[in-house]
Amino acid sequence: MKTKMTELLGIEHPIMLAGMAYVAIPELVAAVSNAGGLGMLNPVIYTPEGTREAIREVRSLTDKPFAVNITLIFPGSRENATVALEEKVPVINTSLGRADWIINAAHEYGGKVLGTVVMQRHARRSELDGADFLIVTGNEAAAHGGDITSLVLLPLARTWVNTPIIAAGGFSDGKGLAAALTLGAEGISMGTRFMLTQESPTHDNFKQLCFQAAAEDTIYSDRIDGLPGRFLKTKAAEIMTRQTVASPIKALSEAREISSMLNIPLWKLFINGLKTRSIRGLASQAVGTGGLRTAIEEGDLDRGVLPIGQVTGIINNLPTCKDVIDQTIAEAEEVIKATFAKLA
Ligand SMILES: Cc1cc2nc3c(=O)[nH]c(=O)nc-3n(C[C@H](O)[C@H](O)[C@H](O)COP(=O)(O)O)c2cc1C
Repeated sequence: MKTKMTELLGIEHPIMLAGMAYVAIPELVAAVSNAGGLGMLNPVIYTPEGTREAIREVRSLTDKPFAVNITLIFPGSRENATVALEEKVPVINTSLGRADWIINAAHEYGGKVLGTVVMQRHARRSELDGADFLIVTGNEAAAHGGDITSLVLLPLARTWVNTPIIAAGGFSDGKGLAAALTLGAEGISMGTRFMLTQESPTHDNFKQLCFQAAAEDTIYSDRIDGLPGRFLKTKAAEIMTRQTVASPIKALSEAREISSMLNIPLWKLFINGLKTRSIRGLASQAVGTGGLRTAIEEGDLDRGVLPIGQVTGIINNLPTCKDVIDQTIAEAEEVIKATFAKLA
């Protein structure tokens, strides 16, 4: 299947791995790229040196194009972006922050930049800044989709900007890919689907919990990591949605963990964080990030917090990334042919 996404990014299929903190590690990235999609590393858990090593590890596992996600609201993101640019990573995806300097630097070496957006203001800004694609993320998505669902958001976004669009939020199979193409996108980005694959490092306890979850078993709240986002309805997530402020003791202990993981002094983490977030927002971010680490690495069903899309209600198997991509493409082609046949 050829679209602007495959042609401009040099990949075989119009499918990409979403940039998931703790999940999008080199093995998963390479598995998606080797299967003909676009793998994407999320370096939020790495120091700049760790990011460089992870990028090189991806390169040792695949010779196909791949991306690095820079979630600008996370500590260390500017430094990680600089490393990605120095390493001339073929594709960079930026989210939750202004990325003009990344776009300019990536274009100098021929890199492409994908800007994640959820609303008109961000879409226009990203287009003006020169992003090559917009990843337009609907409310169904895991984590920070906006207020509008993909069925309405994608055609709307087509009227806001001319930049080609990649659809995210609610896509897990070929029917979804066919729908995204029909709604004006050039391909899809999938988070929840790739998190539930054999190559994903997500703890098995949470994979099993996601298989049991119905589409209704998610919570959309700004109380979990301080920004409106979608999470699996776990005990910890439900407690957090009832609290107006994150526990200061927990926030401090998680901030210490992040400070030592990223090798950034606690005071610096705090001062830098205040440039984009309130104290309350920073506390929620620290607790939410800690909950995610606990879910992915420890599989603690009581304390873990996991971003999850509504598609968890559709997914109940654990394929390889290659199976996901092959089956999605085959099903999309079948669905598109069947739709044509109906018209005839
Ligand atoms: C476990 C997990 C972690 C995520 N972490 C991030 C992140 O650090 N930055 C980000 O921009 N999006 C993050 N996301 C959201 C994805 O990038 C993507 O927008 C979303 O998964 C798409 O919706 P879907 O799950 O319906 O495919 C995360 C999603 C999951 C499932």
